[in-house]
Parts: sequence; C-alpha cells; structure tokens
Amino acid sequence: MEAITRDFFLYLSKNGFLNKIAQNKGGSFAAGKLIGGVDFKSSVRFIRDLNNQGLSVTVDHLGEFVDSVEVANERTEECISTIEMISREGLDSQVSLKMTSLGLDIDHDLVVTNMTRILDTAEKHNIMVTIDMEDVPRCQATIDLFKQFKEKYSCVSTVLQAYLYRTEKDLQDLGKYQPFLRLVKGAYKESPEHAFPEKKDVDENYKKLIEQSLLNGNYTAIASHDDQIIEYTKELAKKHNIPNDRFEFQMLYGMRNKTQLELAKQGYRMRVYVPYGMDWYGYFMRRMAERPANIAFAFKGIFKG
Ligand code: FDA
Repeated sequence: MEAITRDFFLYLSKNGFLNKIAQNKGGSFAAGKLIGGVDFKSSVRFIRDLNNQGLSVTVDHLGEFVDSVEVANERTEECISTIEMISREGLDSQVSLKMTSLGLDIDHDLVVTNMTRILDTAEKHNIMVTIDMEDVPRCQATIDLFKQFKEKYSCVSTVLQAYLYRTEKDLQDLGKYQPFLRLVKGAYKESPEHAFPEKKDVDENYKKLIEQSLLNGNYTAIASHDDQIIEYTKELAKKHNIPNDRFEFQMLYGMRNKTQLELAKQGYRMRVYVPYGMDWYGYFMRRMAERPANIAFAFKGIFKG
C-alpha cells in the first residue's frame, strides 16, 4: 500500500496540467508552512526567524524541468537577485537550485552560461550554491557540470542519492575534490535497474556513503528526517573524532521543527531547506510521496489558511 501511494504521488508530481492549475491557485496556503513565500522578498521574514533560532538556511526557488530559454533566463536572474538580497539582508543562507531550472533540458551551453553568472555572483558574496540532484536521466550531466564548475569555483556543491547503485562510485570519483556534499536518500521514481527497490537497502547504502564521505574529509550535509540516520551520524563522528564543523544536518522547512531546534541546541549545525515561489506543485507532491502523513498536515494548512 505504501509503495502504491508513493508511486501515485510521484506520478502526479510530473503532471503538467495539475501543475498549471496549482500555479494559478497560488501558493498562499503553503506559505510559512511547507514553503517560505511565493517570492523571495516575502520569504525573508521566515528565514530571519529561523536564523534567530540558531538555524542556518538554504533557499530554493521552486521550478524544474524548464523547457523555454526565456524561463531559464528568468530563473537565473531570480537566483542572482536572491544571492544579492541574502548578502544585503545579512541572512545566514545558502542557495539550492536545479540544473533543469537553468535549461539543462534545452541546451548545455545555456546552463553553463546561466550557472557561470550565478557562481560569479555567489563567489563575490561568499555564498554556497548547491546543485540539487534530479532524476536518473539528468544525473550524469549534473555530476559533469558540477565537476566543470568546481574546477573554477569554491562556492559550489552538489547532492548524491543513496538509492542509486551508481552513487558509491560517484562518491569515490568526486573524492579528489573533497567537495561540500549533500547526501540524501533520493526523491524520484526510479526503476530497480538503477535504484535499490527496498528501503532497508537504501538506508544501509546511505550509512555506508555517510561514512565514506566523512572519512574522505568532505564537508558532508546529512539531509534526512530519519532519527536512525541522524543517530548513526552522531555515533560515527564520535567514533572517528570528526568535529562538528565538518558536517551538518539538513531538513526541509516545516518538517520536524522540534528536532531541528534540538539538534541546533546540541551544538550541531542544522540547515533548513526553504523553498519559495509559485511553482510549488512538483515539490509538494514529492513530499506527499515520502510521507503520506504530510497529507493531513497540508489539508490542515489549507483550511486554516
Ligand atoms: P524517510 O522518508 O526515509 O523517513 C524515515 C523515517 O523518518 C520515517 O519513517 C519517520 O520515522 C521519520 N520521518 C520522516 N519524515 C518525517 C516528518 N516529516 N516528521 C516526522 N518524522 C519523519 N532528494 C533528491 O532526490 N535530490 C535532492 O537534491 C534532494 N535534496 C534534499 C534536501 C534536503 C535538505 C532534504 C531534507 C531532502 C532532500 N531530498 C532530495 C529528499 C530526500 O531524497 C528524501 O526523499 C527525503 O528527505 C525523505 O527521506 P528521509 O531521509 O528524510 O527519511
């Protein structure tokens, strides 16, 4: 049953028609609950509030699988102005983005041009930009782009997904860069040809990757709401005397707020991923797929306004 629900929401997450309807409806019901606001300006107060509670942030302008040059360029401008506003407002925030939002599905040179402009701005303001990892058909291109940017910029990082068989090798290949890496379980619908179908195998692989990444000296972000993974990381760090400033925990905005604060109080860096923008539909459906309990949470949000 759990697998059917997950597949259903992942199928819905790619429905262009429903996405359009969702955009027209606006994101006000999710604002301040699952997303920051419908634009960056209206998200600033939520980010400042998190910062005041000892939590760091990474913001993501929602929108993926962009298929027009015009929109990809708009996303680029938005990202540049977001980085500038983070710096101007003195926020403790990084930026996350998706290569498809900058035109990966349109033209390779377009993404390189757009991302170069973003990283030039990020480097100037010393703000880290993390390239989110998308689905399998975009994985190799994303890793290749990351390597290309990493040769020139220090303020770029990326994400590896524990559910993919290939990830252990990708982690080894990236080892020489000692990158800032975010490790996640993986959020897309992938076939057993590419990804572990069983959750317990994903969890085991996740632990193996965390250990390898930390022991390689990568600054590692463990992005999970799973207590078992969080406890494992804490124990591992203790066992190998890895200081708290070599890793951090990350969680999504609106999820496990108490745990986020507890981890920060315990002296760990805790970063909250705050999405914002009108294009919230795909993000929202993937959260539903991960945890159907989010459905109740979301509907409560709708009716409370
Ligand atoms: P999982 O969903 O496996 O849940 C394990 C257990 O944790 C549950 O059984 C429950 O006990 C507990 N739990 C989970 N959610 C909870 C909640 N809301 N409240 C209470 N308990 C809860 N994916 C991707 O493919 N590419 C990417 O770039 C990113 N980026 C990203 C950034 C950040 C900051 C995060 C946190 C996640 C991502 N992801 C992602 C998503 C990721 O791949 C994954 O789908 C989700 O984090 C869900 O997996 P978890 O490890 O959180 O636990």
